[in-house]
Amino acid sequence: MASLKKSFPELVYLNGDWLAHDKAFVSVFDRGYMLGDGIYEVIPVYNGQPFAVEGHMLRFQAGLDAVGIGFDVDDLRPLLRQCLERSSLHGSDAAIYIQVTRGVAPRTHFFPEDVKPSVLLYAYPITLRGFENKLASVMISEDIRWHRCDIKSISLMANVRANNEAHRQSLAENLLSREGYITEGSHTSVFFVKNNTVYTHPEGHHILPGITRRVVIDLCGDLGLKLKEEAVQSDEVRNVDEIFLTGTTVQITAVTSVHLDGNEVFRTQDAGPITKMLQTAFIGKVAAET
Ligand code: PDD
Repeated sequence: MASLKKSFPELVYLNGDWLAHDKAFVSVFDRGYMLGDGIYEVIPVYNGQPFAVEGHMLRFQAGLDAVGIGFDVDDLRPLLRQCLERSSLHGSDAAIYIQVTRGVAPRTHFFPEDVKPSVLLYAYPITLRGFENKLASVMISEDIRWHRCDIKSISLMANVRANNEAHRQSLAENLLSREGYITEGSHTSVFFVKNNTVYTHPEGHHILPGITRRVVIDLCGDLGLKLKEEAVQSDEVRNVDEIFLTGTTVQITAVTSVHLDGNEVFRTQDAGPITKMLQTAFIGKVAAET
């Protein structure tokens, strides 16, 4: 994860046109550019089939509604397939990035009226297979984000700052701790296993309601695993049996090392048995649905 070299997608959809990435421009007065005033979504695509689309679209609409951006995400549905076809990814593993900003208007702190939202969408290839063989080393730091982390805002300063701190130390993720409790990662949800019970932070304003997180919670039910939506204290991480990250880009990735204040507070050799069970079940679910 740490040294991923990415290239720009060749083609992007911007406000009704399909354009080469280096020909796609927005105004400097776009409120996304100027104020980070927008919502985004990332959808995984397996074999050319978008996965868990309904959950992603519902969350996207909920985010736009929460910040009063008048846009119907159903308008995007035909574009999902089109962007995969136009990008020659209709048979591949990929991700679709979508962002809707409030649009172009003179800079004000209040929401301007009668502004047309700006829409950006593109597909890009990513490696989704083999996540079950990856082992992540992570760190813990203070969660300094705003109090509406449930809204997938494009303003990600605190997230990118946290992730960069991990990246600088060649770590895969930074787990965020608010008032002593782990909320989630900079771009992933996090689960812990202790005494055969699976723990993850409850939904609410302090985490993003991860779509992969929800799939994993449902898989726990299918597998008869005990699950508690309860936060784990940063100080307790040293006593857990297993840790794993979930998310569109990491799916279910085992954590084998955790650093807190410069000390390694958790270490295992491999993914734990419950993590492995969930990974196998997840692979089965994806195969059945895509
Ligand atoms: N990140 N928590 C945060 C803060 C996230 O940004 C993400 C996703 C998740 C996992 O959510 P999901 O399972 O729905 O992908 C949890 C995306 C992929 C990103 O920012 O690129």
